[in-house]
Amino acid sequence: MPDFNLGRTQFGDPAHTGNLLNREEANALLEEWVPNERLRLHMKQVAAVMKAWAIDKENADANTAWKWELAGLLHDADWEKHPNDHCRIIIEELERRQVDPEVIRCIASHGPRYFGVEPENSMEKMIYTFDELSGFIHAAALIRPTRYDGMDVKSVLKKLKTPSFAAQVSREDIQDALSRTGHKLEEIIEFILLHQPGVA
Ligand SMILES: [Fe+2]
Repeated sequence: MPDFNLGRTQFGDPAHTGNLLNREEANALLEEWVPNERLRLHMKQVAAVMKAWAIDKENADANTAWKWELAGLLHDADWEKHPNDHCRIIIEELERRQVDPEVIRCIASHGPRYFGVEPENSMEKMIYTFDELSGFIHAAALIRPTRYDGMDVKSVLKKLKTPSFAAQVSREDIQDALSRTGHKLEEIIEFILLHQPGVA
């Protein structure tokens, strides 16, 4: 496994606070950087739950909700083309584009064990948690004939207790992410199931 440690914990320029890519710019970046449809879907799923959480739990206004969504949308943008430099490349690109430092730091904190950036605020803690769990839940949905339809929290919990299922998803990381949020595993799973893109 390559060393992903970013070697720093500060990102972007405070003078660029409030600068966000618009949706067209974000989608264009995604199209160009992430040809793999499955990875793009994963990023859209994380984006959808980030947005929903910001609105439902953080009372976010439209701008703040987009900030959360944007971080989710771009968090793995460099994974496909720069697997050995994951996170560093997208961070540098967003710094070059003078994006709000909160968005950049949020992306940098989506895997503390790898990138060496501890999630501090709720946006950072939630991207870490949603990234781990939504990937796992998606793997569980893919083996069901009806996919997300009718999927419940219990079945996800059962899969989590089956080490051979989606073995590449670290249960330890899920636990670590959760313990930082102060929320219950069941609550987060339910929230993710409720807020799949395309699911009302
Ligand atoms: Fe991810």
